[in-house]
Amino acid sequence: MPETLLSVREIHTYYGDSYVLQGVSLEVAQGCIVAILGRNGMGKTTLIRSVAGLTPPREGDILFRGRSLRGRPSYAIAQEGMAIVPQGRRIFRSLSVRENLVLPTSGLARGPRSMPVDDHSRRWTLELVLQEFPQLAERINHLGGALSGGEQQMLAVGRALMANPELILMDEPSEGLAPRLVQHVEEIMRRLKARGHSVLLVEQNLALAMAVADEIHVLSSGRFVFHGTPAELAGASEILDQHLGVAATRFA
Ligand SMILES: Nc1ncnc2c1ncn2[C@@H]1O[C@H](COP(=O)(O)OP(=O)(O)OP(=O)(O)O)[C@@H](O)[C@H]1O
Ligand SMILES: [Mg+2]
Repeated sequence: MPETLLSVREIHTYYGDSYVLQGVSLEVAQGCIVAILGRNGMGKTTLIRSVAGLTPPREGDILFRGRSLRGRPSYAIAQEGMAIVPQGRRIFRSLSVRENLVLPTSGLARGPRSMPVDDHSRRWTLELVLQEFPQLAERINHLGGALSGGEQQMLAVGRALMANPELILMDEPSEGLAPRLVQHVEEIMRRLKARGHSVLLVEQNLALAMAVADEIHVLSSGRFVFHGTPAELAGASEILDQHLGVAATRFA
């Protein structure tokens, strides 16, 4: 059994008086992709923000490598070995591709490196990121804002990798991308997994989550209504129909 990397235990997260996550628990094992599916406004981004310490839960606990993250600021959590690929990419539009990739690590360099130093196979450098995404290499001096949606997504992933995270939190990486580029996101996910990264993947693209995830949770109004393998979800017609708005026959 792979070791548990992230353990979210009965968290309750609010924005002011607004009660969003109502007792959510999940685990991400080392080297696994765990997907969170759910319709708009169900709390998927709030879950990512809770884990990253951006909107800390009011109750419950989150453990990373067995240690509680309670009370720790988001920059300290990032230094522990977590990176976010945010919804809508959030790259710096007026900075070049190179600057987008290099800037975040200049701050992290002062803290501990998240990946073990002797584990060279998992250490990312600018050169390795550009090898992984040759399209970014071709556009290294272009401004972020001049890239296509798919290229911006690659840049957002590349920027996260530059911090050498053990766990990558990805919030709807396929949103707004053409089908061919969604296929590319799928390939990126597989390569991250092959390199030993663990991923907590938020998606609304059911087919993508089904194709890459080891486990899937379905979130509905701040609670999980399903947890299982992609094959189990394919057979859960009521969940597909009621919580994801997908006709179960699609997977029959
Ligand atoms: N900063 C905020 N302040 C107050 N309420 C918020 C805030 N951000 C989100 N919410 C509310 O919390 C609920 C969950 O939002 P969240 O962004 O987590 O949903 P989501 O599942 O990521 O949706 P989407 O698929 O549209 O990205 C929604 O009702 C939303 O309106
Ligand atoms: Mg969201």
